Amino acid sequence: MAKYKIAATGKLLPPAHQRLLEYCDVKIIDKSGKTPAYSQAECLKDAEGLISFANAKIDGELLALAPNLRVVSQVAVGYDNIDIDACTKRGIPVGNTPGVLVDTTADLAFALLLCAARRIHEGWNFVREGNWRPGTSFPFGIDLRGRTLGIVGLGQIGTAVSRRAKAFGMNIIYFDKFRRKDERELGVTYATFDELLGKADCIIVFTQLTAETRGLFSHKEFARMKPTAIFVNAARGPIVDTGALLEALTNNRIAYAALDVTDPEPLPTDHPLLKLPNILITPHIGSATTETRTSMAQLAVDNLLAGLAGKPLPACVNQSVNYK
Ligand code: GLV
Repeated sequence: MAKYKIAATGKLLPPAHQRLLEYCDVKIIDKSGKTPAYSQAECLKDAEGLISFANAKIDGELLALAPNLRVVSQVAVGYDNIDIDACTKRGIPVGNTPGVLVDTTADLAFALLLCAARRIHEGWNFVREGNWRPGTSFPFGIDLRGRTLGIVGLGQIGTAVSRRAKAFGMNIIYFDKFRRKDERELGVTYATFDELLGKADCIIVFTQLTAETRGLFSHKEFARMKPTAIFVNAARGPIVDTGALLEALTNNRIAYAALDVTDPEPLPTDHPLLKLPNILITPHIGSATTETRTSMAQLAVDNLLAGLAGKPLPACVNQSVNYK
């Protein structure tokens, strides 16, 4: 049987890549500049399917280079890098990888919160820099038990964070544009966005990046938070106005930020945020465990192969054009 022709903006982990190679001729789009500039057009001109990673922009211009495209399969749960309307207009279903990364990403977000509360990375810097000597003291952190956690975006990952927070004895309030019917079972209380900002001791963000949530946290929102607030973002960088966060941390309008995502991403190495004492940044590793990245890659291949065969994608973002 002839193999499908597909393009990919990166390489999948080995088991998924091997499976892909059984059915597809794969051309990986090289943006490193090592190959000639026409390589993107070359890769896309015959492509029936596209594997995309979250750092690649899939817009109308790119789609126009791929006249035969029948499916886009994103190796991430978020898909703000893809022009979904443009895909839908062309009848192209877009797959993503929800579910398989929920606990892993919740673990990372909660780990950031714990690190911030207990000053773990500051403690390590203190030790590493040779400041831990007999008689020296180190500033105290805070207990999570009894504190109020505000979760902005109570989808699957936000809910998994709420379970962890419950186990740590926290009170949980949440804001989401969809009010949950299972608040009682989850042990969470709804708050308006403004109430949440004012009440929470710690805030974790887990909304999607959309036109509505871009810049959701700016000067006014940081000013509304407690000066002792810990702010965690493991969703998407542009949900936060970076300049406003810098200002809030510099002037101690909030106590601390722990981020797995930034805007821009990565931050330039001389960015002023990197010089602050009250921030911790990890390099967008929410789902970055071998097990989870392997499962994401496998689901991405399931989505791709289903789309190529004209079958419904197991996880589809634009259901209106998912194959019947
Ligand atoms: C990671 O950020 C994802 O959207 O899966």
